[in-house]
Amino acid sequence: MKIAIINGPNLNLLGKRETDIYGNMSFEKFLDELKKKFPQVELSYYQSNIEGDLINEIQKAGSGCDGIVLNPAGYTHTSVAIGDAIAAIKPPVVEVHISNVHAREDFRKLSHVSGKSAGSIFGLGLKGYELAIEYLLSLKTPV
Ligand code: DQA
Repeated sequence: MKIAIINGPNLNLLGKRETDIYGNMSFEKFLDELKKKFPQVELSYYQSNIEGDLINEIQKAGSGCDGIVLNPAGYTHTSVAIGDAIAAIKPPVVEVHISNVHAREDFRKLSHVSGKSAGSIFGLGLKGYELAIEYLLSLKTPV
């Protein structure tokens, strides 16, 4: 099972950035924990601050992966093109936000990604990534 985690702008600063909202842990450290937690999953990780690069990565993951965990960060609220990229690929995408975007500024309530995704998780911190992986795994695991 191959799952791609794709993070958008400013998430390279996790652990240093607005720690009251996003916490103290870097994504790299968290990724090590995820890899230990899901040894059966081939997890890849990509982060970019550039919209077009994120779209290229979504398209790439669209043909090589079983599922995508995507936090488009600020582009969630502005990028029709990222929504279109999700609609254009087959593997299920789970949208994740660390913070509760619905409890913050109004502009964060709009997502161009939710409607194209299998589902969305927000407000549960980094745990959201773990839950998204569990969901994607459940799609492949016979009951
Ligand atoms: C975020 C929420 C977005 O509104 C914000 O622009 C981010 C991070 C989150 O994970 O909570 O950069 O996607």
